[in-house]
Amino acid sequence: MSTLQITSTSPSSTKRIAAQLASLLKPPYVLLLEGDLGSGKTTFVSGFVEGLQQADPIQVQSPTFALARTYETIPRVHHIDLYRLHKASSLAELGLLDLIDDTKAFVLVEWPNNCNVGYPAHAIRVSFPSNISAKRKLKFTIPDDLNINLSAQ
Ligand SMILES: Nc1ncnc2c1ncn2[C@@H]1O[C@H](COP(=O)(O)OP(=O)(O)OP(=O)(O)O)[C@@H](O)[C@H]1O
Ligand SMILES: [Mg+2]
Repeated sequence: MSTLQITSTSPSSTKRIAAQLASLLKPPYVLLLEGDLGSGKTTFVSGFVEGLQQADPIQVQSPTFALARTYETIPRVHHIDLYRLHKASSLAELGLLDLIDDTKAFVLVEWPNNCNVGYPAHAIRVSFPSNISAKRKLKFTIPDDLNINLSAQ
């Protein structure tokens, strides 16, 4: 695993960094987005989706009733938010394995640590610092076989 740190200076900067990453990856990839309430995870998903090809503009919001939503970008994105899970269960028990195993998709997971069982070993981890200021240092943990470079934007 290698790590990469990039400082975001604003919500739109976080979105541009996410869009840049989206344009560099080929599916499948699971991205585990770790950080507290309001740290920028959904903002990141929104930028990631903007970085992909889409027929109609897509509104990214965290799934409210279901645990997951799928955006029909090319490639498609499954957006999972495990915030409301109060006890850890496996992804299989939650019925999420089909999404995680979708070889044609990117899967972005908010609050991944609410469910520790079942993520692929080569997932990309992005950690978001809890910070009230707009300047936030994002830390990416990237599998060794993936060679990417991101720049602050
Ligand atoms: N550099 C930044 N990157 C992302 N968001 C920022 C930044 N600076 C300030 N913000 C603000 O922080 C908030 C991030 O909200 P967001 O919904 O993305 O967080 P979240 O991590 O998904 O929270 P939750 O765990 O509640 O789902 C927004 O209000 C956004 O405007
Ligand atoms: Mg969120």
